[in-house]
Amino acid sequence: MAALGGATAAVSSRILPSATGASLSLSSSRSFFSFECLRSSPRISNLFLNQRRVLEVRVSSRGYGTVSAVASDLDQLKNAREDIKELLKTKFSHPILIRLGWHDAGTYNKNIEEWPQRGGANGSLRFEVEQKHAANAGLVNALKLLQPIKDKYSGVTYADLFQLAGATAVEEAGGPKIPMKYGRVDVTSPEQCPEEGRLPDAGPPSPADHLRQVFYRMGLNDKEIVALSGAHTLGRSRPDRSGWGKPETKYTKDGPGAPGGQSWTAQWLKFDNSYFKDIKEKKDEDLLVLPTDAALFDDPSFKVYAEKYAQDQEAFFKDYAEAHAKLSNLGAKFDPPEGIVIDRSPSAQGEKFVAAKYSSGKRELSDAMKQKIRAEYQAVGGSPDKPLQSNYFLNIIIVIAVLAILTSLFGN
Ligand code: HEM
Repeated sequence: MAALGGATAAVSSRILPSATGASLSLSSSRSFFSFECLRSSPRISNLFLNQRRVLEVRVSSRGYGTVSAVASDLDQLKNAREDIKELLKTKFSHPILIRLGWHDAGTYNKNIEEWPQRGGANGSLRFEVEQKHAANAGLVNALKLLQPIKDKYSGVTYADLFQLAGATAVEEAGGPKIPMKYGRVDVTSPEQCPEEGRLPDAGPPSPADHLRQVFYRMGLNDKEIVALSGAHTLGRSRPDRSGWGKPETKYTKDGPGAPGGQSWTAQWLKFDNSYFKDIKEKKDEDLLVLPTDAALFDDPSFKVYAEKYAQDQEAFFKDYAEAHAKLSNLGAKFDPPEGIVIDRSPSAQGEKFVAAKYSSGKRELSDAMKQKIRAEYQAVGGSPDKPLQSNYFLNIIIVIAVLAILTSLFGN
């Protein structure tokens, strides 16, 4: 296991939400004047927002990772995504990266409120103790692929990197665009890893019951179970890892990537709905159908969705994208609480971002600054997408009125 060995040596500090504390109110109501209304002014919010993320740097012999960001940085997330795309082009590692993200998130238990005891997408899978869980066999290879990217972007958490890699892999393999958000906070020690046994088995005595037991515990429903299982349209199972599948087939003996294993579909690097067609037909001995895959057509409730997805790829893509985004958020703690959206750009999302016009004259704001300004607006119940609220003018009138009263009182 590649760890930096040696004693825990390091440096640790916290993010300071800059000048956030200042709030001098004449009234607790938002429509009255307060420093908060200054913060909602785009020009001034830039001053308030001149904040820096400070990284927690940890050197430990106990886990895979060495540097853990407290929360992620937008520009670094974007650059990390480009690096992941490059990695995918050379290593064809789409399937294992999707599996990594799913196994980090899939430990979530909705019945436990506390973070990180509830499990989920918190980066705990970087620790050796969790990689050794039987369900995670082979995933250390995914970590090895991502570690250089993590080392390059210390402002991206493991929890975000795992989910970023999984969603990017789906998209790059031809799958739907996943409506992701980032900002997941990492757990910091192996003691915070979930206990073994929270992920599904491929061959339990009653596969449909087992799937429901495990996925319902995550707060997911039948439709989401079926849609997410469709991720098996990508990748292979290897007997030397999970114990399932053939050592090689006509579809896998030459790679791409490391040869071998048994895939669910013939084109196992292409994200489409062929998984549902193939597991329904069960015609090709070289294609895999796990007992939990077969349950999708055996169980009457699952079958409704499985049939639909076999016939209608668009329906599958739509439901998959929603379910994947939901899975990626399970158990996660976000900083900022509303998360960070990478693709929020005027053209992509019809964003008006009126605030940008006010804040820096002719110069276009960076995405990172827009994100921060957006967060500040939202903190006071506003939005940079709209012209300034009438509250703003009401506040000014109230200030003028207060000043007039004070002048008349003290002027006499
Ligand atoms: C429904 C319950 C599930 C079971 C029982 C299951 C089981 C398995 C097993 C046994 C493997 C083979 C691992 C190996 O030998 O390397 C595998 C691979 C894979 N699983 Fe699942 N899985 C499930 C759900 C999911 C979900 C929800 C996703 C993603 C959203 C997913 C994505 C993948 C991918 C992409 C691979 C291929 C990995 C590779 O090629 O390296 N699985 N799964």
